[in-house]
Amino acid sequence: FQISNQLISASCPSNIALIKYWGKYKNQIPANPSISYTLNHCRTNTTMEFFAGEDFSVQTFLAGNEEKKFAEKIEKYFKNIEPYLPWVLKGKYIIKTKNTFPHSSGIASSASGFGAIAKCLMNLDEIFNSNNQQSEFANQKASFLARLGSGSACRSLYEGLVVWGKTAEVEGSSDLFAVPYNNDEIHPIFKNFNDWVLLIHEGQKSVSSTVGHGLMNTNPYAERRFQEAHENFAKLKTILSSGDMEGFIKLVEHEALTLHAMMMMSEPAFILMQTGTLQVINKIWEFRRITGLALFFTLDAGANVHLLFPNDIDNDRITDFIQTELIPLTQKGGVVKDVMRF
Ligand code: PMV
Repeated sequence: FQISNQLISASCPSNIALIKYWGKYKNQIPANPSISYTLNHCRTNTTMEFFAGEDFSVQTFLAGNEEKKFAEKIEKYFKNIEPYLPWVLKGKYIIKTKNTFPHSSGIASSASGFGAIAKCLMNLDEIFNSNNQQSEFANQKASFLARLGSGSACRSLYEGLVVWGKTAEVEGSSDLFAVPYNNDEIHPIFKNFNDWVLLIHEGQKSVSSTVGHGLMNTNPYAERRFQEAHENFAKLKTILSSGDMEGFIKLVEHEALTLHAMMMMSEPAFILMQTGTLQVINKIWEFRRITGLALFFTLDAGANVHLLFPNDIDNDRITDFIQTELIPLTQKGGVVKDVMRF
């Protein structure tokens, strides 16, 4: 390969898991398969400047401010991926990133962030190997590299519904990289969906996801949970192809609550939901009981609530309800609106 100075930019969306990844083995191998929706508007835009032949160092800027901690993380990450990108330590980097969504909103900026960095790296790799063809292999390798930065990031490299982790239910699935879920097996009602994130709490999380994954090692319910994730894949497959919205709601909410139940059953236990999270959940259940409309929730490893609902004619009643009943329960009236359309 022939390295040279380069300026590369890439954009990568975040994602929200329906079947959650929680628990991992060495080298970022997931303890169970997961599936997520890739978002559209919530993205990280990254430019990477590479100075060939200079001493290896990384400088990072987030929305114009230098972030030394992030730079240290990226340096470690680059050292870690050298076996797969032999040129990666042979220069200096200036990396500038901007998120299109609020910082510490609980939307996974590590997923979009590492996704964008992996895309930049694969662009450089293709230039240095004089291979300009955007191949499926390059996508897969970008997903592989993103995984080594943040597990869930590997799912952000593809649009729509994306699977990470070996499962008998999805042909070609792997623990090493994500694969898109077969589009032909998804009923149209699941292909045009809203995800509105209610910002219940905008501060730093009390327990990081790295620590949370680690606590699954000693969680007495872990094995049952990993098995359940596999079982839920089989259920979801039928739901997705038949268009069973009721089944979808039940499964997605169960997965969200299970993630948080695992946190409560950890030793030491921790709780990332807040009063507002529980209030929102109860209001959603009440709204559904009264109207029968498909408004439901999922949660990430944090207090914020992802409101999921299909983009269809009943939207007005749902959005009015969100506006009048749910948004007042947020910290500062914060909501981030995204849509999954594919
Ligand atoms: O990618 P990590 O290590 O930040 O883990 C994130 C795990 C969850 O967001 C809670 C679930 C998931 O599958 O995205």
